[in-house]
Amino acid sequence: MRNLLITIDGPAGAGKSTVSRLLAERLGYRYVDTGALYRGVAVAADRHGVDPADDAALGRLLSGLELRFRPQAGGQRLLDGELDITEAIRTPAISMLASTVSARPVVRAFLLEIQRGLGREKAAVFEGRDMGTVVFPEADVKFFLSASEPARARRRFEELRAKTGSACLAEVERDM
Ligand code: DC
Repeated sequence: MRNLLITIDGPAGAGKSTVSRLLAERLGYRYVDTGALYRGVAVAADRHGVDPADDAALGRLLSGLELRFRPQAGGQRLLDGELDITEAIRTPAISMLASTVSARPVVRAFLLEIQRGLGREKAAVFEGRDMGTVVFPEADVKFFLSASEPARARRRFEELRAKTGSACLAEVERDM
């Protein structure tokens, strides 16, 4: 089968990560979690005390950023230079900051190029919010995944509870 570029978009909690990972595994393709890249920018902004509203400071931060995925048995790691930030990107505070930085055009433009570079060789499943529309409008196969609001909130709640040991469903619903 020829190498395809596959995109999976949809809102938070729709089940994109699970589906994308399984599909990539089944096809022997690379799985690219683009939300992790936005989270990587958030971790760097947090570490360097950069105000996400300050475009000049964000621009300087981005020019020194070296985000890359390192394949590893049982999943992949996200590195910024030599710093492994795989766990750091998953905290609730970083989720909030990732959402803020993802609204900044300077960040979206920077990650657009990185994502397109990662997609050049195809044979990949890209998961995100704007994969089939903005990043890869020419993708071979595009999916949009959704689920009911209660199902999405419950999934995020359970994810958070597993990670932090405690979470409040009403709070998750409100945040989403
Ligand atoms: O899917 P996620 O929760 O890991 O994504 C982290 C943040 O980045 C979230 O606020 C949505 C945003 N995001 C985006 O704007 N575009 C993407 N392609 C992927 C994620």
